[in-house]
Amino acid sequence: MNRTKILVTGGAGYIGSHAVVELYEAGYQPIIVDNFVNSQESALNGIRTILGTDIPCYKIDCANEAAVRGVLEQEKDIKGIIHFAAYKAVGESVAEPLKYYQNNLGSLLVLLALMPEFGIQSIVFSSSCTVYGVPDQLPVTEQTPTKPATSPYGNTKKICEDILNDVTAAGKGQLRTILLRYFNPIGAHASGLIGELPLGVPNNLIPFVTQTAAGIREKLTIFGDTYDTPDGTNIRDYIHVVDLAKAHVVAVERLLAGGHADVEVFNVGTGRGNSVLEVVNAFEKATGQKLNYVIGPPRAGDVPAIYADVTKATQELGFQTTTSLEDSLASAWKWQQTL
Ligand code: NAD
Ligand code: WQD
Repeated sequence: MNRTKILVTGGAGYIGSHAVVELYEAGYQPIIVDNFVNSQESALNGIRTILGTDIPCYKIDCANEAAVRGVLEQEKDIKGIIHFAAYKAVGESVAEPLKYYQNNLGSLLVLLALMPEFGIQSIVFSSSCTVYGVPDQLPVTEQTPTKPATSPYGNTKKICEDILNDVTAAGKGQLRTILLRYFNPIGAHASGLIGELPLGVPNNLIPFVTQTAAGIREKLTIFGDTYDTPDGTNIRDYIHVVDLAKAHVVAVERLLAGGHADVEVFNVGTGRGNSVLEVVNAFEKATGQKLNYVIGPPRAGDVPAIYADVTKATQELGFQTTTSLEDSLASAWKWQQTL
């Protein structure tokens, strides 16, 4: 089988590893570059076991132009890039903003500088619903205005979107770009062989939930129950990571088929909003685990409610999610039990 090569930066990470699996299963040849700053080489073992084959992986920093050039020279005929590699911890980005600007902007700039030289015309970029800030309307469409970022991390996503808009426009059709704005990815591959590897105390809700159920954390603190939402807790759009991974396959297919002259933006969520309390209840129902939780004060910077309008991705990419919240949470629990 003659597989089209797709460079997957950050392909050993949480979303990237699932995308590598989906790309390979869809007939592509993913080529991973990852420096393992936030992942472990065990992810490659999981990918190998799922696929029954090794996926090439280069352990390099993709903000290092010479190193990326070396990979592109060696692989020669890469046709597209999915750029996941970035730092993503919101709180850390406030404490260490330069680290975030250097890595998140630096890696994108290196890729964009090298793409013309190697005749690579297609890039899918990992953006985030964080660019919408506290939205004025719900659900958010791709036309919903973006807001000034509330963290250096969020700002890197906004600036990378701006860079991609400018460079794509200047490229006069030579560069085809899709920005995928992810909502909240959760869960793990059904095999239980790959998933999220949170280091230290998790910031995100689902790893905190599963670690609490596993007895690693004493209790979950729900950050506030007096928001202007039906049960007072925050609302998010939780999308299963395999559904999210599949959005990258359809995005790559669209770009390789000729794409679009302008940058295209797609929300990637389920279109459903669920409150924190609904997540807790769904987790208990899906897993039979009782969750110890308390209501605490609100967390600074939290958006009260955000969820996606996914009409555009459905109509133009043919993208649809298939995994329910309960099944997503069950997969997160299955993964937790392997850690
Ligand atoms: P992750 O940390 O699990 O994966 C990122 C991977 O990139 C890691 O394997 C890390 O080692 C690698 N990496 C980072 N900098 C690198 C560099 N300079 N060179 C090579 N490799 C490098 O994160 P994730 O959750 O899989 O997120 C993937 C992308 O999606 C990121 O761009 C993130 O900002 C974005 N995103 C994530 C979420 C989320 O909630 N997880 C939501 C919206 C957007
Ligand atoms: C979800 C909900 C919390 C932990 C973050 C980034 C965002 C994006 C996705 C990358 C919120 C509540 C959480 C806990 C809680 N990442 N919660 N107790 O905040 O929607 O988004 O990840 O782009 O940029 O900011 O996700 O998982 O942290 O929180 O009550 O211990 O769970 O208040 O309502 P969030 P999260």
